[in-house]
Amino acid sequence: MTDVGVTDISIYVPSYYLTHQDLAEARGVPVDKFHIGLGNFKMSIIPNWEDSVTMAANAAYQLLMKTGTDPKEIRQMVVSTESGVDYSKPVASYVQELLGIGIRCRIYEVKHACYGGTAGLINSVDRIARTNRESEKALVIMTDIAHYGFENSGEPTQGAGAVAMLVERNPKLFSVDTTQNGVYSKSVFDFWRPSGHVVPIVDGHYSIECYLKALEESAMDLKENLQLNGRRLIETLDYVVYHMPFCNMAKKAHRHFVQLEYKDADNAEREKRFKETFEKMVEPGLFGVREVGNIYTGSVYMGLVSLLESEREEVEGKKVGIFSYGSGCGAEFLICNIKENAQKLIDGLNFKKQLDRRKKISIEHYTHIYSQKPQDVRYFPQEVRHFKDEYTQFVFTGIKDHKRQYV
Ligand code: HMG
Repeated sequence: MTDVGVTDISIYVPSYYLTHQDLAEARGVPVDKFHIGLGNFKMSIIPNWEDSVTMAANAAYQLLMKTGTDPKEIRQMVVSTESGVDYSKPVASYVQELLGIGIRCRIYEVKHACYGGTAGLINSVDRIARTNRESEKALVIMTDIAHYGFENSGEPTQGAGAVAMLVERNPKLFSVDTTQNGVYSKSVFDFWRPSGHVVPIVDGHYSIECYLKALEESAMDLKENLQLNGRRLIETLDYVVYHMPFCNMAKKAHRHFVQLEYKDADNAEREKRFKETFEKMVEPGLFGVREVGNIYTGSVYMGLVSLLESEREEVEGKKVGIFSYGSGCGAEFLICNIKENAQKLIDGLNFKKQLDRRKKISIEHYTHIYSQKPQDVRYFPQEVRHFKDEYTQFVFTGIKDHKRQYV
């Protein structure tokens, strides 16, 4: 069977963050609700000179540079987002121009809430597996701004960022076998953003129920596909990364997974298994969400980047279960088989280094930024160089003749 998967991955987070300490003080909420109850400490804030296009291009630019990929070699580019900038023109078209991706490339945008990134990845792996050209490459990008508005229960789960992956044959980082998966979809109203709404409508506690049900069903489907014959799925995996709208969602998800997997055990035994496996299999993937918050489509893959950077050589040759959930809802449980000798690539992720370059902003500054409308953004190209840094190569400069401008 053709070995297809991801040769390298990169992540981009914007240059500002707000602390949950400052948010808690401003909202009159005990900070422990955010630190202990949700498990989050900082949220990435996107400045007005960035949007889903610049974050996508900034993530993918790093990836093309570090892999030495000529943009003209990309034959498929999928951008997954629920933070689109236009009802018709895809974010992918803007990114094509910024990155210099060639014209002989299939380019499109995918939307299915946070699940969209996985849809783009699975489709790209299948495309590369079927192509006649050995060296064909696909670029999969997930880019989003989790924005709930002010003074509501979703506000402390906000974040922003993008992830980019290069898909090819004989991948260097991990393989994905798209037949070894478990899927689930059902129409629900747990989180949705009707056309014209700037922020989503959320039934928060119900969304957690929908997520856990999707985990249960897709794990069951994966078990059937793998024909485990009574063996436990959890025992065939080395790590699990869950979609993480906030850090403790991974804890809730893993507790549920352990309960399902050890149905026959008593409560004390299940709690022991939960503690042991959580620390070993899940905890190493959590530092990104604590620092960044929810990045919707890229969230589960930010968890994967965190895991790779935390575990380094330990993760070589290991099996990582990925549980991807998107409201609405759709879910998939898949497996990434990490390659031997992946450490050199992992050393090039530099996620912690990128997080350290961010600037803390005040609650007043955050309020100002998130009160602005895109049409109010007017920068002059000569001022724009102040906003660029090692990671931020592309910025948004405003709208002219209904056309978004970037440099
Ligand atoms: P809430 O109602 O404000 O919070 O909203 P809560 O009262 O449920 O408290 C949260 C936790 O903090 C609880 O712990 C409290 O006990 C604890 P839990 O019972 O969950 O273990 N707590 C405290 N702990 C210590 N000290 C204190 C304290 N006070 C309370 N003083 C909610 C929480 C997650 C619902 C809200 O943030 C929300 O609506 N978030 C957005 C929706 C969401 O993230 N849903 C998750 C599943 S759906 C999903 O993941 C899809 C999504 O990514 C979108 C997409 O697909 O595009 C969102």
